[in-house]
Amino acid sequence: MSTDHVAFFDTTLRDGEQSPGCSMTTQEKLTMAHALEDLGVDIIEAGFAMASEGDFAAIATITQAIRKPRIASLARAKTEDIEMAARAIQFAGRARIHVFLAASDLHLEYKLKISREQALDLTGESVRLARSLVDDVEFSPEDATRADRDYLVDMVRIAVDAGATTINMPDTVGYTTPEEYGAMFREVRQRIPAIDEKGVILSSHCHDDLGLAVANSLAAIANGARQVECTINGIGERAGNAALEEIAAALFVRGDRYGVSTGIKLDKLYPTSEVLGQIITFKPSPNKAIVGANAFAHESGIHQHGMLANPLCYEIMTPSLVGVSRTHLVLGKHSGRAALRHRLEQLGFTVSREELQQTYYRFVALADRKKNIYDQDLVGLLPDSIRERRSEPVSELD
Ligand code: KIV
Ligand code: ZN
Repeated sequence: MSTDHVAFFDTTLRDGEQSPGCSMTTQEKLTMAHALEDLGVDIIEAGFAMASEGDFAAIATITQAIRKPRIASLARAKTEDIEMAARAIQFAGRARIHVFLAASDLHLEYKLKISREQALDLTGESVRLARSLVDDVEFSPEDATRADRDYLVDMVRIAVDAGATTINMPDTVGYTTPEEYGAMFREVRQRIPAIDEKGVILSSHCHDDLGLAVANSLAAIANGARQVECTINGIGERAGNAALEEIAAALFVRGDRYGVSTGIKLDKLYPTSEVLGQIITFKPSPNKAIVGANAFAHESGIHQHGMLANPLCYEIMTPSLVGVSRTHLVLGKHSGRAALRHRLEQLGFTVSREELQQTYYRFVALADRKKNIYDQDLVGLLPDSIRERRSEPVSELD
């Protein structure tokens, strides 16, 4: 695979599922896994085998049904977790064990109550054990962005020497900034030559507590990460994970800056987001980039006029690029005459300048009172003389 290929590691079924209201049954996870396969992700983290019987069953089911993406199970740096993960993925065409262990003093001291030295020993032992069971092992020093940098480098070096094939450096609590996160990737790579010598992949995993998850992931890619961990609609612990659709679209639209390739089929982004929305029964917020209901909607008169003249005025990508069927020119109190005329024409009503002006006054008065203006409302504003002239509409009434 080319060194400019960025692998998409989707963790919707593991980290994503950890967000309130997002738990899924095995059948739902399987449906989602099929959608992720169609989307073109490289790796699916199907769950945390040791967490529950349900998680184990879901991972085992997915490994038997999905063939193209590699299937990963999460495991703590514990023998029983790693062995359970290996059992769950044993029938996968291509499998991975993802071992994680805290790297920050805060986590070591208060959560795990072990010393730095003990954690280094556990790192080597757990990665070696995982490598004895499967040839693809990812190691994550949890809370990497708040860990002492020299200690983080020691931990990563031990994981690489023990045979880790991917090193993921998570911003577990969404604390870092793009410059800082990018610099961390540069530094770790520079200080551990074995990463490049052995072809170890560096990976980002960002949470969105400061709203920087996607920016941080892109900074990691700009600084050598060739795997990015993310979720559909950005679901995940607390404020969520980096949103897959945003990273994929940014890498494409700003290919001039990133110059990397991915296997993501961009026109499957919106359909995949819809599948998830149906499963977890909530959709992304309307203003969510790429997949939100308003991501390709325009209401203000100035924007609508520009859009009608040339969509490039206000859209940096076509809706169809990401699988959205069309741009919406939403008629509301900020809309202008150009959009009103356009919608009337789509509905089969051609109006003169004078008729448009009269209709526009009535439209604005109505829009001041009513949040949503439907096509039926528009037709209701027209005098009989216009309605009688209706020609074949190009668009049905909504
Ligand atoms: O956020 C995190 O640190 C994680 C690890 C398990 C990779 O999800
Ligand atoms: Zn996480």
